[in-house]
Amino acid sequence: MIDENVTRYSNKLKKLGINHKIVEHPQLKTVLEVQNYLGLTLSDGFSTLVMKADDRVISVVRRDDLRLDFGKMKNFFGVKNLRMVSDEEFKEFTRLEPGTAQVFIPGTQTYLDRMLFEKEYLTGGSGSFTCSIYYKSADLIKIPGSMVADFVQEEVIRKSKVNIQKSGNQKLRIVSGITPSGDGTLHIGNYLGAVRQFIQMAKTTDCFLFIADLHALTTIQNKSQLQSNVENLVLNELALLGDLNNITFFRQSDVPMHTELQSILNNITPLGLLKRAHAYKDKLQKDVMEDEINLGLFNYPILMAADILLYKPDMVPVGRDQKQHVEITRDVADKFNKTYQKNILKLPEPHIPEEVATIMGTDGKRKMSKSLGNLIAIFEDEKIIRKQVMGTYTDPTRIHSDDRGHIEGNMVFAYLDFFGDKSKVDELKKLYTEGKVGDMEVKNYLLDSLMTYFARARARYEDLKVNPVKVKKILEEGAEKARKVASETMVEVREVLGLTNKYSFFNY
Ligand code: TYM
Repeated sequence: MIDENVTRYSNKLKKLGINHKIVEHPQLKTVLEVQNYLGLTLSDGFSTLVMKADDRVISVVRRDDLRLDFGKMKNFFGVKNLRMVSDEEFKEFTRLEPGTAQVFIPGTQTYLDRMLFEKEYLTGGSGSFTCSIYYKSADLIKIPGSMVADFVQEEVIRKSKVNIQKSGNQKLRIVSGITPSGDGTLHIGNYLGAVRQFIQMAKTTDCFLFIADLHALTTIQNKSQLQSNVENLVLNELALLGDLNNITFFRQSDVPMHTELQSILNNITPLGLLKRAHAYKDKLQKDVMEDEINLGLFNYPILMAADILLYKPDMVPVGRDQKQHVEITRDVADKFNKTYQKNILKLPEPHIPEEVATIMGTDGKRKMSKSLGNLIAIFEDEKIIRKQVMGTYTDPTRIHSDDRGHIEGNMVFAYLDFFGDKSKVDELKKLYTEGKVGDMEVKNYLLDSLMTYFARARARYEDLKVNPVKVKKILEEGAEKARKVASETMVEVREVLGLTNKYSFFNY
């Protein structure tokens, strides 16, 4: 019999849209016993490990065939102590018996090891020894406040990957794009908010990353500027990505299916959905007459929906400013599937890690953005980056270098948390709050840290700049692969719409 506790938990999961199924079994105490009973292996299940990271209670979810790398995790959390909670603490925190942990524990931050997503379905704890729950793995990221990270020992991953490939499991797919706006160069906000996730996720997923040049047409209507922006962005992205293993890199306009699908989706999209979009509403607030806003800007979310839906990704790694666009994409996909009564378009999930959701600009007031100019560039001349770093907002209440300074809201320390060496940054923070180190010294350390952090990417950039043939080849190969995947979706879409008939000759 399914106990009340499990039913209540299952209802919570339903509300969160997490697909799952409860399976009953005799009272079984260990994971191995459960998996054996269900005829599954350890790699088909996961455990939720409740831990204490210094003073914070967190939960880490990992597949049962994999081992955690505590060193990696401590680094990631920036803590000295990391341990499993005791049975007593577990009971107090979860109100459950040790060994029955549910994956959603309200009030804790849940860290999902990336290897979970290598499997389409996984079993996990239900809160009872007589039931387990089958989960659709991709849905685990719907757990509020959850975050995907790499916590498993590398050696173990290597071995398990071989097994997974053998069992024919599909890899998780991600898609994202960057618009060549401004002058097309990237800033550290783009890097932390989007590119860095991409690089990390590319280790285990199938990635599509594109230059959203058609999106840039909403603002850039000058041939040489557009060409130069695209060239800058291509070089910036390739230099940051380095190794293109698992990554299909291409220009959006090289894949005509993006505009074809957009045009089709226009017909099932209610006007009201677009009127609620931020980009359009922001423009209206800037005293621009509604009649003068170009349709491209108004319709921008539908092009973005097409960008995403063509590749049927599981996740879309973006900064928070793009969250609404991914939500609109889900609405449009759902409307399409319902209209044509077939699940052709996959509803994607945004992937927005909390700590990089919005990187603030050097003014400390607004989101770092190309159009606001409050940025720190990555590939500019060091002199320019120095100027950007030196102009970064620190602590306005600190007049003299021996005044006690504040870390909160101090952008130099906010950036150092990502780019500096942790022990050195901790020491500087301490000295800063005691009034023992000046702004200048901290800023110089930030500049050095940035230069070191991006040294390899900057070298790759110089190399790519003088190698246009190599870059062109990457884009050609990327576009070819993207066209292949996109055309498979378009064949299905055309078919369900009725755009195929006995007189059709169109064949991708
Ligand atoms: P774009 O070009 O404005 O930004 C590229 C990526 O960088 C993220 N980002 C930030 N993240 C955190 N803090 C910041 N200060 C910051 N500034 C930028 C953005 O969220 C984004 O992930 N419409 C998109 C491009 C696009 C796209 C897509 C993305 C077109 N089609 C399909 C994903 C999927 C844009 O203009 O991003």
